[in-house]
Amino acid sequence: MLLKPSVFVTRQIDPVALDKLAKIANVEVWNSDSPPPREILMEKLRTVNGIITLLTDSIDEEIISSASHDLRVISQMAVGYDNINIQMATRRKIPVGNTPGVLTETTADFTWALLMAIARRVPEGDREVHQGIWRPWGPNVLTGQDVFGSSLGIVGFGRIGQAVARRAIGFKMKVRYFDVQRYPELETELNVQYASLSTLLSQSDFITLHINLNPSSHHLIGREELGIMKPTAYLINTARGGIVDSEALYDALKFRQIAGAAIDVFETEPIPAHHPILELDNLIITPHIASASKQTRARMAMIAVNNVIAGINGEQLPHCVNPEVYQS
Ligand code: DGY
Repeated sequence: MLLKPSVFVTRQIDPVALDKLAKIANVEVWNSDSPPPREILMEKLRTVNGIITLLTDSIDEEIISSASHDLRVISQMAVGYDNINIQMATRRKIPVGNTPGVLTETTADFTWALLMAIARRVPEGDREVHQGIWRPWGPNVLTGQDVFGSSLGIVGFGRIGQAVARRAIGFKMKVRYFDVQRYPELETELNVQYASLSTLLSQSDFITLHINLNPSSHHLIGREELGIMKPTAYLINTARGGIVDSEALYDALKFRQIAGAAIDVFETEPIPAHHPILELDNLIITPHIASASKQTRARMAMIAVNNVIAGINGEQLPHCVNPEVYQS
C-alpha cells in the first residue's frame, strides 16, 4: 500500500478545509495559538511533503535550505508572504502558494472601519462611556473630521486598493491613487486620479496603504513622507507594518504633525506591551485582524489546502507566487 503524503499545518484552520486535506494526506496540526518554535519548523520541513504556514511563521533562508528534498510545497494561508524567503524556495524549486482574492472585500471593509473610527473618534467615545463618563451633549465634545466629501489617497491600487476606492464612491470623496502602474480604465470607472506619492501625501485627508512589503516598500512612509502630510490628515495601514517607519510615526503622532493614525499592523508583531506609541490618544491600533471574518478565514483555509494538495500531488499550484519553479 502506498504511503500517504504528510502535511504539517502550523495552526488550527477551518475544519472543513482540514477534513478535505486529511482524506489524502497524513495531517499534523500545531495545536496552539502561538506559532511553532523555529526548531519545530526546521524539524518538520526535514520530514514532511507539504506545509501550510501563516504570516507569523518565519520561513527564512536557513529553514528552507535545510528542508528535505521531499518537501514539495509551502502553502501560505495569507495573500502576503513576506515571512517566506521566496528566492531560496525558488532556488530549491519549491512552489509557494498564497490566498489572493478571497480577502479583498473583508480587508477593504476593515480599512473603512478604521478610517471611520479614527475620523469620528469612535474608540474614544466608547472608552469614555464604558468608564462611566457620558459628557453632556456639547458643541465641542468628541468632534472629529468629516469623511463625506473629503479626499482619500490610496497607496497601492491592486485588488484591495480598488475595493477601498469603490467604497469611497458612496462618500463622494476625491480619490487619488499612487502605484507603480497606472489603471486608465479604472480611473474613469471609479472616478479616481493618478498622483505621485508626494502629491497624494500632501493633498489627502486620509491616506491608506495597500502595497506588499518588499525591500523597495520597506519604510516607504518615513519621516519625510509623514512630514508632507497635512497636519489634519490621517494615516490608515492594513497592509504591513514594515511599510511605515514606526519611530517616525510615533514622532509625527506625538508632536501632532499629523492628526492621527489607525493601523492594523506594526513593524514588530506583537507590539511590545509597553511600547510608547500605545500611550498616544490619536492612534487606533488593532492586532492584524483586517481579514478576520469567519467566512473569509474559511475561504483562505480552503485555498491554502487546495494549494498544498496540488503541491504534494506534483501539480501546479492554483495560486503560486513563484511560478518560475515550473520552468525547466
Ligand atoms: C494577508 O493575507 O496577507 C493578510 O495580512 C492577512 O490578514
